[in-house]
Amino acid sequence: MKAFNDLADFSTEEIQGLLELANRLDERPEPEALKGKVLSLLFLSPSLRTLASFQAAMTRLGGGSFVISPDMSIHGLETRPGIVMDGTAAEHIREAVPVIASYGDAIGIRAFAERKNLENDMAENEFNALTQLIPDTPYINMESAMGHPCQNLADWKTLDDYSIPANGGKFVLSWAYHPKALPLAVPASTLYTAARRGMDVTVLRPEGFELPDAVMQKAKEAAASAGGAVVETDDRAEAMEGAHVIYAKSWSSTRHYGDRLADQKLREGHLDWCVDEPWFANAQDDCRFMHCLPVRRGVVVSEPVLDGPRSIVIHEARNRMLAQMAVLHQMLGATT
Ligand code: CP
Repeated sequence: MKAFNDLADFSTEEIQGLLELANRLDERPEPEALKGKVLSLLFLSPSLRTLASFQAAMTRLGGGSFVISPDMSIHGLETRPGIVMDGTAAEHIREAVPVIASYGDAIGIRAFAERKNLENDMAENEFNALTQLIPDTPYINMESAMGHPCQNLADWKTLDDYSIPANGGKFVLSWAYHPKALPLAVPASTLYTAARRGMDVTVLRPEGFELPDAVMQKAKEAAASAGGAVVETDDRAEAMEGAHVIYAKSWSSTRHYGDRLADQKLREGHLDWCVDEPWFANAQDDCRFMHCLPVRRGVVVSEPVLDGPRSIVIHEARNRMLAQMAVLHQMLGATT
């Protein structure tokens, strides 16, 4: 495997193979599988789970890892192209990426969306510019403007672990209130993942927060191939009818993308979009709550739901480590 960038790059059989490997590595650890291998981790955006789970994954497989982020860099990293570096930053990403990559057998990169221009973010211009600096090392997308494949693989495993039906299972991807305009990476790639799994997916969002047409179209095509469907609505009761799982996430207004004040004005009309027990009134009795974390308690989801039996967020977060162990094993280990 030369890159782990988008679940769309893999056949369903290949995804199933990764999920089986993740389960096998959980049941039968292989503490020497990646002995002597090194994973370079470049974080240009903050993290808890991705940062910790990749390091844990490499250690559990017998390899090692190191982390570089602007916060810890003694030099300060410049990312803008074509700049005269007469300010604070003393190191440009054009040298930093190939140097970091040269120390490892694979490199993981996280770079959130700029959230200024939707077309630029949709085209993954920043992430692509970074991966083009990697000489010849396999790479892993640890979250880019529009993708979070490690989260997606872990979420697929979580749905399987809880026996949430693929075909016939109803998956609600719901926008939730958050005080900040957040990236589209998780909602866009989660929508694709649930559709690709063959689920009946409903995107529940207020007006002005529609996901981009290309994102919806990609998911609809995946669903059609896998026996599922994708619809969208702003009607909560309609969306939650018979739902097996609700996946909450806040994201930026696509109507006002890059316009912080207009986005803020629109989102502040939706403070009541906090997932709470009444949302589940007409869902399946055992309807589950998922979220990629971090999550704001009492803002995105009520404490009783987050701490209650519906919530599977901790299991979901642990699956990040197992899913990534499978990816690393296939990328760096002996063929199984
Ligand atoms: N879900 C996720 O990627 O978490 P972090 O941002 O903490 O890595």
